[in-house]
Amino acid sequence: MNDFLKEPRFSGIKPFDSKVWLSSPTMHGEEQKWVDKAIQTNWVSTVGENIDIVENMVAEKVGRKYAVALSSGTAALHLAIKLCGEKLYGQPQIGHGTLMGKKVFCSDITFGATVNPVCYEGGIPVFIDTETDTWNMDPVALKKAFEIYPDVKLIVMAHLYGTPGKMEEICAIADAHDALIVEDAAESFGSAYKGIQTGRFGHVSILSGNGNKIVTGSSGGFFLCDNGEDANKVRKWSTQSREDSTWYQHEELGYNYRMSNIIAGILRGQIPYLEEHIEQKREIYKRYQNGLKDLPVKMNP
Ligand SMILES: Cc1ncc(COP(=O)(O)O)c(C=O)c1O
Repeated sequence: MNDFLKEPRFSGIKPFDSKVWLSSPTMHGEEQKWVDKAIQTNWVSTVGENIDIVENMVAEKVGRKYAVALSSGTAALHLAIKLCGEKLYGQPQIGHGTLMGKKVFCSDITFGATVNPVCYEGGIPVFIDTETDTWNMDPVALKKAFEIYPDVKLIVMAHLYGTPGKMEEICAIADAHDALIVEDAAESFGSAYKGIQTGRFGHVSILSGNGNKIVTGSSGGFFLCDNGEDANKVRKWSTQSREDSTWYQHEELGYNYRMSNIIAGILRGQIPYLEEHIEQKREIYKRYQNGLKDLPVKMNP
């Protein structure tokens, strides 16, 4: 028995017989078809048709020019943050991050993966308070933070639980300070703010295909941008920074962050069900809202 259930205030409460999983995957059948095709055609690698197709599907859905398929949302955040770090502060010495000693404004209520890559790159996260309306970065607090730290040039913000942050205000504040935004839309694929899909607001943005996301490849992530050079750089970094050469030529630090064609096959089968999954989430939300209506609790937005 869980220790907290021994407390007197929980007496009479019986745990569920089976665990209630957090946002478990929903498969439809087509996933298997694309995975099988990859295996039958021997594209069992980090290249293949499934990868090309899901990149196009995601870019089209979000409304961005480029989507680069990567091994996880965290990998996408790492390369997004590194890219912004290089744009702002130049290429670091070997063994140093692009953000060495630089402060970065970050969402304070989010999953740890939003912020970890700031530290991979040597940056110092400065947490910006969350607002009650959206449970996301508070534009008022962000504005105040720029008064305290006017030199900050990078904002890493997340849209929590599929609810978009107030992007109009956040983008205006970033623009006023010439700051770049890395938009973490890991939890908000398919959500729109004032008719624009999340994932389109950041200078660069990311999505996740983790098992608990609205559509999943079991894992996987996407880097999103509108600049072909940025997309090519991230694609290159994600494949060990191999230069376009007939031999193994490496001129920059590289990573093994590219998406597998098998994972992309699962995502290829899932993405057509994005809207259906969102509708299902709405139904679940309403069920909780209704079930909890007589209790002194407030639902998230
Ligand atoms: C807000 C947020 N950012 C980043 C991530 C990291 O994504 P991944 O698990 O694909 O690395 C997640 C979830 O896992 C997330 O919820």
